[in-house]
Amino acid sequence: MSAYLRHFELTEAPFSKEIADDDLWMPPSKTDLVEELEEAMSERASVMLVGEPGVGKTSVLRALRARLSTSNFRLTYCHNATLGKRDFYRQLCIALGLRPVASAGGLFSAVSTHVEELARERQTPVFLLDEAHLMQQDLLNNLHILLNYEWDSRALLSLVMVGLPELQDRLRLRHNRSLYTRIHYRLHVGSTTVDDTEAYLLYRLKRADCDRPVFADDAVAMLHEAAGSCLREVDRLATACLKGASRRKKKLVDRAIVASIAALPDDD
Ligand SMILES: Nc1ncnc2c1ncn2[C@@H]1O[C@H](COP(=O)(O)OP(=O)(O)O)[C@@H](O)[C@H]1O
Ligand SMILES: [Mg+2]
Repeated sequence: MSAYLRHFELTEAPFSKEIADDDLWMPPSKTDLVEELEEAMSERASVMLVGEPGVGKTSVLRALRARLSTSNFRLTYCHNATLGKRDFYRQLCIALGLRPVASAGGLFSAVSTHVEELARERQTPVFLLDEAHLMQQDLLNNLHILLNYEWDSRALLSLVMVGLPELQDRLRLRHNRSLYTRIHYRLHVGSTTVDDTEAYLLYRLKRADCDRPVFADDAVAMLHEAAGSCLREVDRLATACLKGASRRKKKLVDRAIVASIAALPDDD
């Protein structure tokens, strides 16, 4: 066990990314997003979810996964959006347990036939495409065809595209309008407030069995500013602060520690 965990009597690394789906921090802003996503899934509608790096987009998908019933929804998570059209449909075939064929057309029809079969079994496939701002244009040109069943009169699946705000910029371009007009839910993971950061720190420390405040109020404000609304950065800085405090034998993380870690001037 690391020295800082012993020093603060923590039972696990509090700011690790290894957090179970149903242990995620869910303030009202995140719960609202998950509820909107659930609503979209129940309508078999497609979604775009954008936000800056580290604000918690993938974590929202994980919270959604924990809530959707596996008897009604079949989730497929694709994290490699950089694939071209053919390799993307190959990846989708494999994820769906289908035998991949050689041609792009064959792969596409295997996926769409499978989607129709699932609909007959009253199952909704949900294709989650993470880092979707990296999608190749040939895939973007093609995706709306995957949403077209029975002369575009039936919704059989939900496509959930998640990525940086650039994703929305790309989808808004005139040549992507066939896809963009079919994305009825356009959601945004906004930036966090200082109160959010405070609640997040307390929540994650509590999960490591620490109930007392470890970060002084003004240290939280400084950490929030240094992290710039990025929870991944909060994780990194908070861990470094705990280690710094432990080395200095301090039980409270104060502004001086945050300032030294974040290399910000401590001007108070
Ligand atoms: N709801 C949450 N509950 C707990 N930790 C979270 C939550 N959202 C984000 N985090 C933390 O922030 C890190 C980055 O979040 P992530 O969802 O991967 O961001 P994004 O996908 O927007 O880049 C995660 O590894 C996790 O440690
Ligand atoms: Mg992510």
